[in-house]
Parts: sequence; C-alpha cells; structure tokens
Amino acid sequence: PGPERTSPATMDASAETEYMIDVFGHIKAMFETATASAFPLLANSPVALVLSTKPGAHYQNNSAMSLYSKSKDFPADQFPADSPMDAAMRLCEHLPSSDVVEKAEAVKGSTIAVIVSTKYLTRQMNLLFQLGARPPKVKEEVVVVDYSSPNIAKQMHVGHLRSTIIGDCISNLFEFIGHKVHRINHVGDWGTQFGMLIAHLKDEYPDFETNSPPIADLQAFYQGSKKRFDADEEFKTRAWNEVVLLQNGDPVVTKAWQLICAASRKEFDVIYNRLNIVGLREMGESFYQSMMVDVIKHFEERGLVTIEDGRKLVFLEGKEVPITIEKSNGSYTYDTSDLACLKYRLDTLKADSVIYVVDAGQSLHFELVWGAARKAEIYDETKNRIEHVAFGLVLGEDKKKLKTRSGDTIKLSELLDEAVELSSKVVDDKQATLEDDAKLTAQEREDAINAIAYGAVKYADLKSNRTADYVFSFDRMLDFRGNTAVYLLYAYTRIMSIARKAGVSEADMAADTTPIVLEHPKEIKLALHLLRFPEIIEQFVAELNPHVVCGYMFQASQYFTEFYENCRCTEVVDRKVVSYNMSRIKLTRAVAVVLAKCFDILGMKYVQRM
Ligand code: ARG
Repeated sequence: PGPERTSPATMDASAETEYMIDVFGHIKAMFETATASAFPLLANSPVALVLSTKPGAHYQNNSAMSLYSKSKDFPADQFPADSPMDAAMRLCEHLPSSDVVEKAEAVKGSTIAVIVSTKYLTRQMNLLFQLGARPPKVKEEVVVVDYSSPNIAKQMHVGHLRSTIIGDCISNLFEFIGHKVHRINHVGDWGTQFGMLIAHLKDEYPDFETNSPPIADLQAFYQGSKKRFDADEEFKTRAWNEVVLLQNGDPVVTKAWQLICAASRKEFDVIYNRLNIVGLREMGESFYQSMMVDVIKHFEERGLVTIEDGRKLVFLEGKEVPITIEKSNGSYTYDTSDLACLKYRLDTLKADSVIYVVDAGQSLHFELVWGAARKAEIYDETKNRIEHVAFGLVLGEDKKKLKTRSGDTIKLSELLDEAVELSSKVVDDKQATLEDDAKLTAQEREDAINAIAYGAVKYADLKSNRTADYVFSFDRMLDFRGNTAVYLLYAYTRIMSIARKAGVSEADMAADTTPIVLEHPKEIKLALHLLRFPEIIEQFVAELNPHVVCGYMFQASQYFTEFYENCRCTEVVDRKVVSYNMSRIKLTRAVAVVLAKCFDILGMKYVQRM
C-alpha cells in the first residue's frame, strides 16, 4: 500500500485576497508534515529548506542526509532509511498535496528539488497586480514601540535620529500587518537637571509667567545653567530647591518646566516634520511620576527590596550590581521610571509586545529593569514579547564620532540641510542630461530632491545591520551604484515609466482583462521573488531588522533588470512605442507595487518621475 496521504499543509485559500501566503513557510510546513508521517520517530527533525541555486528548481530541501543518519539505527519495524536517497524519496512520497507545489523530486546528492506550480504563481501574480502587496496573516496584537526619545533641553543627536528612523519603520511594519501600534516618544523630561534649568530660567526671564521666554538656543541655555550649577554653590542650592518644588507640583515651577519642555518640543518637531515622522506620541519620564510610589510598594509587598544606606535596592540572581529604585533622598531613578512605564504599558495599554528602540549602550539598563520586572511578576516572558532593538553608534567616515566638516558636533538640522543640498545636485545633474520635454516641473524637482535626501539618510541607516556601528557617508548614500536609496528610487521611476511610455494609463491597465502569464524563466524568477514578500515581512517581524527589507528590494530591482533585458515589454521604433505586451506591462506594475509597499514600510517617499 502507498503512503498514507495527510491533509494538505495549512493554507487558508479563502483569505488569499486579504493576505499573501508565505510560499517558503508553506512548503516548509508541507515537509514537516511529510517528515512526521515518513519518520514518526523523527517528527520534530528540522526541515532544511532553502532557495535553490540550481536551474530547474525553486526551493530545495536538504534534510534527507540527516534523516538517514538518524533513522538508520531504528528497529526494522520503524522503517529505517536504506540510504540518503531513500530518505529523500520517502519524504517526497509523504508530501501532502498542495496547489503551491508542482513537483518535488529527489535528485542527485539526495536533495529534494521543489518546483513551484506556474499556475499557482500566475494566479498570485494576478492577485498582486489587482490587490497590491498584502501582509501575511498573523494574530492581531497591541504593540508599543518606544522610539526617538530625546532629552528635553538637550540637542537631539544622531543616536536619536537612528532610533527615530528605525522605530518609525518598525511601527509601520506592525501597522501593516494589522497590529494596534502605540508609537511612544519616551522623552527625558524629568530629573534633577530640571532644577538648574528652572533656577536659570527664573533669573534670565523673571517675567516668564506672563511673557513666554524667547529661548532661541536651548543648547546654550542648558550650557549656561550647567556652568552656573558647577561653579556657584548658592545657585546649586536653589536648583535643588526647585527640584523639590517641581516634584511637589508647585504651580509656578511646573509652569517653568512646561515652558522649557515646550521650547524643546518645538525643536524636535522641526526634525520630525522634515523626516515625516507622524503619530509619535510624547509620553516621557514625567508621565510615570505618580505611578512610581505604587511600583516601589509593589516591590516591597513582595519582599524584594533591600535597604542599604537609606537606598532601596533590588538584587537580581546572577547580577553583581543591584538596581536602585529609590535613592536615599527619596527620589526615584531612570530604572524606577522604566519599571513604572513597563507596568503601565502592560497593564493599562494592554500591550502584547513592547519594543524599545534605544542605542546598544543601554542594554544593561534594560536587562536589569526587565529582570526586576520579571521577579516582581510585572512581566511574564511567556506571555509578552519585550525586546530591546539595540543599535550601534553613528560614526564619521574616519570611524570616529560624527563631526561636521568644520569639526563641530553635528546638529541634526544641519545634517539634513546638507543631505538636501547634495541631493539637489544629484537631481540637477541628471536633469541636465535630459531633453527639454523630459525635464521635471519645479514641484516635481522639489519632490524628487526631498525623496532622495531624506530617503538616502533613512535608507543608509536601515539597510545596515542595526547592531553594528554605522558609518555615515553622504558619498556612499548618494551613490547610484549599489544598494542605495537613489538607486532604488530611480529603479522605481524607470519601472513606472514603462507603462507611461507605452501610453498605457492606470485606467487602461485596470480595465484591461489580459492576465499576467509567466513563461520566460526570468519572468518566473521575478514572480517567485515578488511572492517572497510575505516571507520577508515575517522575517522582519521576527528579527526586527529592517535590512532584510532593503536587501529584498535591491534584489527585486536586480531581478527586474534581468527580466527587462531578456523579455521585451514594448516595441520601439524611432523612439516611439509601436506595440506592447500587456501581460509584461502588468508584471512591471506588480514589481512597482511591491517596491512601493516596501518604501512605505521603510518610511520613505518615492516619486513617479525624476
Ligand atoms: N531618553 C533616553 C536617552 O536619550 C532614551 C529613552 C529610551 N526609552 C526608555 N524607555 N528608557 O538616552
């Protein structure tokens, strides 16, 4: 008797309009089923499925060798495999049926070559063209993404820029897959430094209550107050006094604090507007002030607090240093506020996941806070995903701290100005080579410059492995060759221009009933890659590393080029399109649709012409 047929691997066909199916995950699940049915004793053996590099196969399963070596010692009634090839053949026999796979065959070297059904691919490509790129199906969640988080009265620095770009991208991702996302800006708006800032404000702008102080340069204001704080004992005492008053909610001091925060917020907003950062809600350290008393109580009730020299400490297993949740003068710490904050996010916001996009320098802080939270049963790691999306430093091309050309510490607004200036040159140089009738309008030119400038800054950051330090280089990010924003933005406009030049409008394309057909190997290769979109999204969700999306986009534009060079889309005579292949025009549009969705997730703007 032949092998028992198991039910097809999970595929919810009714949902294929709303969601995209992860082809790789689907085939992998099929092989998991096959492994369990062919080798019940090895049911949980991993399936080594990879993209195939061999012609004639799309994916390949390399598990047979290890199944053979594990099964060969089985008792006879458990059907040990005779050879790796035998193991491979048995996997194929036990493979559940599915629309996705055309053929799975054991080949030389005992690998299994998998060919995806062209019929299936074609159907999915037509859906992609009609419906756009949809997410994979995932369980809906509530997610907090903590990002940007600069400190009041200080300058937002390149580390915050990195957090802002990565955090925005991760939030876009979660929204795309249907999660409810709280984008939270955990600004540093509380602490003893406010004492000196308030004392200084009172001296510099005595009428601040009635006349809003025109603090033009907060940085200078901060430095001015710090200088006095360090040099002047009397000022220092006053500063401490202001801290106490602030903590006790004194209305005048609170007003002074609000004014300082507002001045900072105005500066931050300039950067957020330029970078098109929307939906980011400010809930800084001060927001958790009233909750900290309860958090301390929470720890005390569980007998987790050790008192030492008047300080309240929490010791953690395996950690030498305890965390201080209350100082001897009764004030709280950064740790206390993050504990209260985590509790709030889990209990009140009902977050399933909390993602902290913060530089790697704060890893220990988070480890300790979460360790304490676990101990106090604030957080249960089997129920919630809490992750530090850590990133490395931003370095200059000399591999040292990023400086301006004149050697000063970099101001973000100046950095962005420079990006715009350099991008103008990129766009204008390109324009200079075009015929008059192909030149951009003033508005198009401006949109193109902005797309390139901010896109370049964002993309360069997102495409590098975030945990590594990142070398900031305008030259590299504005290079047309290689995996850069400029390259991809131009690739996108080129793809979009194919239909335009053929005189096929959006409406024509939508009304036309010609289906996409996949015949040429380059068409199939491109289609297979485009349909990896949900797989890439899932990988990004798992690793929270945006560079997987960047790599995917770059590859897509390369496969597009291969397709375009080998498969004629239009016939041109005397620089005029005389005929076109509608299936292929639609295929180019499907590429554009996927790239556009990726740009959206990365938080990048793109234009139709440049
Ligand atoms: N304001 C902090 C800084 O600039 C980052 C805050 C990160 N978020 C948090 N929940 N601790 O270093």
